[in-house]
Amino acid sequence: MTTTLVVRFNKQTVLAVISGLVMLFGLAACQKEPPTTRPPVALPVYDQGDAVLGKVAYEKQCKQCHSLQVGSNNKGPQLLRIYGANVGLLNEYQYTDALKNSQIVWTAESLDRYIANPKQAVNGTRMRSEPIADAKMRQDIIAYLSTLK
Ligand code: HEC
Repeated sequence: MTTTLVVRFNKQTVLAVISGLVMLFGLAACQKEPPTTRPPVALPVYDQGDAVLGKVAYEKQCKQCHSLQVGSNNKGPQLLRIYGANVGLLNEYQYTDALKNSQIVWTAESLDRYIANPKQAVNGTRMRSEPIADAKMRQDIIAYLSTLK
């Protein structure tokens, strides 16, 4: 009699512990990962363009797909601190394999090439922006991006 009671008690305890653990893991799984932040820009500001004009151009050419706020991704990933960053850093944004595996570091040169003609720079990328033919405008946009620390 005593033995059965003990066994029963133990079973219940074990069950209670297990369901407690399941709930805890469940809660942990429900909590969303915080959005990724890129490391602060380490490169000096790009001074071969005009950041003020670049902001205007950015708003016309890039903003419809790219916000500048952490966690706020549109068609394209947000671009805060993109200057000098490694490609494809945001966990919560689904990049194409083509871009993600490109191993690009976003320097002035690689940004220039990409926004001048995304498809030509990275075969298979999903960025469908108008190629920016005007080199001065590209420099201005890059200057603006380099100030977003
Ligand atoms: C029509 C929408 C659209 C426009 C306009 C656009 N982009 Fe993009 N951009 C994207 C998409 C989509 C991706 C992701 C591409 C991929 O995964 O292949 C992307 C990716 C990028 C990346 C890589 C980000 C990272 O985390 O590695 C950079 C840099 C970038 N865009 C810069 C720009 C700039 C600068 C402009 C304006 C000159 C611009 N884009 C205009 C859609 C756009």
